[in-house]
Amino acid sequence: MTIYNALYAQSGGVTAVINASACGVIQTARLSKDKIGKVYAARNGIIGALTEDLIDTSLESDADIAALRHTPAGAFGSCRHKLGSIEKHRAQYERLIEVFSAHNIRYFFYNGGGDSQDTANKVSQLSQSLGYPITCIGIPKTIDNDLPFTDNSPGFGSVAKYVAVSIREAGLDVASMALTSTKVFILEVMGRHAGWIAASSGLAAEHEGEAPHIILFPEIPFAPEAFLKRVDECVKKYGHCAIVVSEGVHNQDGSFISESGLVDAFGHKQLGGVAPVIAKLVKDNLGYKYHWALSDYLQRSARHIASKTDVEQAYALGKAAVELALAGKNAIMPIIVRDQGEKYQWSIGEAPLEKVANVEVSMPRDYITKDGFHITDACRRYLSPLISGEDYPPYQNGLPKYVKLKNVAVEKKLEKTFEI
Ligand code: F6P
Repeated sequence: MTIYNALYAQSGGVTAVINASACGVIQTARLSKDKIGKVYAARNGIIGALTEDLIDTSLESDADIAALRHTPAGAFGSCRHKLGSIEKHRAQYERLIEVFSAHNIRYFFYNGGGDSQDTANKVSQLSQSLGYPITCIGIPKTIDNDLPFTDNSPGFGSVAKYVAVSIREAGLDVASMALTSTKVFILEVMGRHAGWIAASSGLAAEHEGEAPHIILFPEIPFAPEAFLKRVDECVKKYGHCAIVVSEGVHNQDGSFISESGLVDAFGHKQLGGVAPVIAKLVKDNLGYKYHWALSDYLQRSARHIASKTDVEQAYALGKAAVELALAGKNAIMPIIVRDQGEKYQWSIGEAPLEKVANVEVSMPRDYITKDGFHITDACRRYLSPLISGEDYPPYQNGLPKYVKLKNVAVEKKLEKTFEI
């Protein structure tokens, strides 16, 4: 078997465990030296591949690569950049082939969400469309948990855990002071069009009266009157009300409550800032003192409280991607398959990239209670195992000890540069 190099890249919003997938890819490739030469990483996702800005991961020690497993965010840099169609943007693909060919790259691993799998799918077609023999495997990632086929997406379980832990803790805080101070606490969480993250906060409410008392989902159009009525009932009954709101909550006419007016390179409207809008609504109508918080990047970088299940799955998917490539597979994404039995068990399956790309899976209606304000037992059964277990990073001087890689650039071989 001829030895070729591999290129690994991270794409889209980063997570607490995307580096665990990178660790799975690199460690597995290091064990297959008779088949894969070097693993290069593209700096800032596909942009690094286009601009020939490659990182030589073989210069990183085994210990540093192992430490990626417990280090959050994207160690090689990520991006939001979508490749156009091969027909209309042929130059981009020809450039990729030039870069791949110059560096003897025949394996490409693209670690991202739905939009990024579109890029992976297009790259996987390079053999067919432009005659360059490349094996391309997508590796799933997204805190939004909205990828199809896979039972859940790496990154989600850790955000879910962070959000459930946070609302439980903040709920206790609000309850302590409610008699004379704050009565309403609002936590805003990410998730864009799907309510999975908001839903996971519901796991914290195990008994009557526990936070969160109300969850606002993107799947349920916001009804201000019903919401205010519920807040008032909660305050009267429990003395306080803890609310989790998804950034993707929208009005009855479909417009986002929190739209900032900005659009990213994938065409998504930038969201964020719904919590203060909801807080003002409560204050104006009910007069209750409030606090609000945005989990924002804290939630997706919170590796200190990552879910053990999530870390294990992220690693396993990275490892599986290399194994599948070496088994001759192309244009697929390894996925998590949940066993049907009572006890939570999972294994790795695979899904075709062309069917994964650009699909967003919302919460099923029967995961949300009839009144639209909480999660059902079916949802609880689905979510619970995903936040199971802790995988604490090592600590030094009271802080988590994360690795910073050397990220040494590979010498450029092409004379031409490429404008993005
Ligand atoms: O990648 C998904 C996500 O984390 C969404 O939940 C969130 O809306 C978005 O990314 C934020 O993107 P950015 O960091 O590019 O503003």
